[in-house]
Amino acid sequence: MKITIFGTGYVGLVQAAVFADAGYEVICVDIDEARVARLKAGEVPIFEPGLGTLLKDNAEAERLTFTTDAPAAIRAGEVIFIAVGTPSDEDGSADLQYVLAVAATIAEHMEEPRIVVTKSTVPVGTSAKVRAEIARVLKARGREDLDYDVASNPEFLKEGSAVADCTKPDRIIIGVDRADSGQRLRELYAPFNRNHDKIILMDVYSAEMTKYAANCILATKISFMNEMASLADILGADIEKVRLGIGSDPRIGYQFIYPGIGYGGSCFPKDVKAMIHTAESVGFDAEVLRSVEDRNAKQKRMLFDKITRYFDGELAGRTFGLWGLAFKPNTDDMRESPARVLMELLWEAGAKVRAHDPEAMEECRRIYGERDDLVLCEQRDDVLTGADALILATEWKNFRVPDFKHIKATLTHPVIFDGRNIYDPAVAARYGLNLFGVGRDSASRAVRESIGS
Ligand code: UDX
Repeated sequence: MKITIFGTGYVGLVQAAVFADAGYEVICVDIDEARVARLKAGEVPIFEPGLGTLLKDNAEAERLTFTTDAPAAIRAGEVIFIAVGTPSDEDGSADLQYVLAVAATIAEHMEEPRIVVTKSTVPVGTSAKVRAEIARVLKARGREDLDYDVASNPEFLKEGSAVADCTKPDRIIIGVDRADSGQRLRELYAPFNRNHDKIILMDVYSAEMTKYAANCILATKISFMNEMASLADILGADIEKVRLGIGSDPRIGYQFIYPGIGYGGSCFPKDVKAMIHTAESVGFDAEVLRSVEDRNAKQKRMLFDKITRYFDGELAGRTFGLWGLAFKPNTDDMRESPARVLMELLWEAGAKVRAHDPEAMEECRRIYGERDDLVLCEQRDDVLTGADALILATEWKNFRVPDFKHIKATLTHPVIFDGRNIYDPAVAARYGLNLFGVGRDSASRAVRESIGS
């Protein structure tokens, strides 16, 4: 079976590499000529563990090719995936112009039956729009005789473990309205459907909604915990203890209940907004999701507020060392990263930032360019030089074991603002460092008082 994938972004590229590695012949199409040229030359445009090797091996084996020639790719692939971007419009709705443009292109050039699969995260009802667009163009061509079907097959990839998530999915959602298409897609996914049946067949609308509901409930868990963390600070509780206490209940679980400085990335913020918008468009008020989003916006400035309080509102002229720029570890992605909100607030207040991130510094340079109030440091501990305080925004592995002694000796104020609760208040206190985290400041204070630090 030959597969064509439109869009060599994150989702398209990972899925293409994994399909090719399973033995399929995969053709990736993109309108961006420079990107296709780079991919052909063996460059990996995104940082994702394991992806480089997969792309290289399968390109060499000629199972994976890249092209801008959409008509040829449409003629080749029996199953065509749409994995192009769906950026947020100003109002939070997903912009479907790229998805629908691909649908039109497919209809313009198909000569044989095709199954078109929407893989991009698209609002409920998009597959129906794709179907309508294909029908419109086929009619204009006078080729209504051509058989096609549109299916929805949302992805559940996490940045940083996308290759593994794709190779060993915990579920494969296939939304189809025709049994024969369901059977074809089931065959396509057979190499990934081992051990037990992971395929969940459903109608197209439910498949589309599943993707959003999954991300929205995860975002809800995070915002809920962040709210509890703020309350814990006031009540004198330690949210980390609370987290362990509630996570032990299997109905709640330990995952996605880590308080922090807000969720970022390309999925949660966009998907929560899009779901709110979809609800609005049918006259429904998604109250819970609106709160989830509001809470997240507040959370992204929470650490800044703590910093401001610590320095009695006097931030102008100060320098802050910042560990972490990416929205989470193991990625260079800074989309909606809480570190950005933090840096921008510090700059607005007249402070300077010295930052280090293991992967995202180039991306940071691309976003912000050269500026006097930003120094990107090649070495982790260089951010400390001349800094008033240290802020941790992303929990990369190499920030987990810091040299507290050196930190204490270098900072002008002995204080760490830990946006991910990775440091132990007792250890920090032993080195004479003040530690402010998320939802356990009273606990940190108690430790400091008990050892007289
Ligand atoms: C997410 C979903 O996990 C994935 O299934 C979906 O396909 C795409 O969106 P991703 O955006 O790559 O994946 O990252 P994820 O690991 O889910 O983290 C998202 C954000 O939530 C990060 O900013 C992370 O720091 C934050 N987070 C996560 C928390 O603040 N607390 C947690 O307990 C978990």
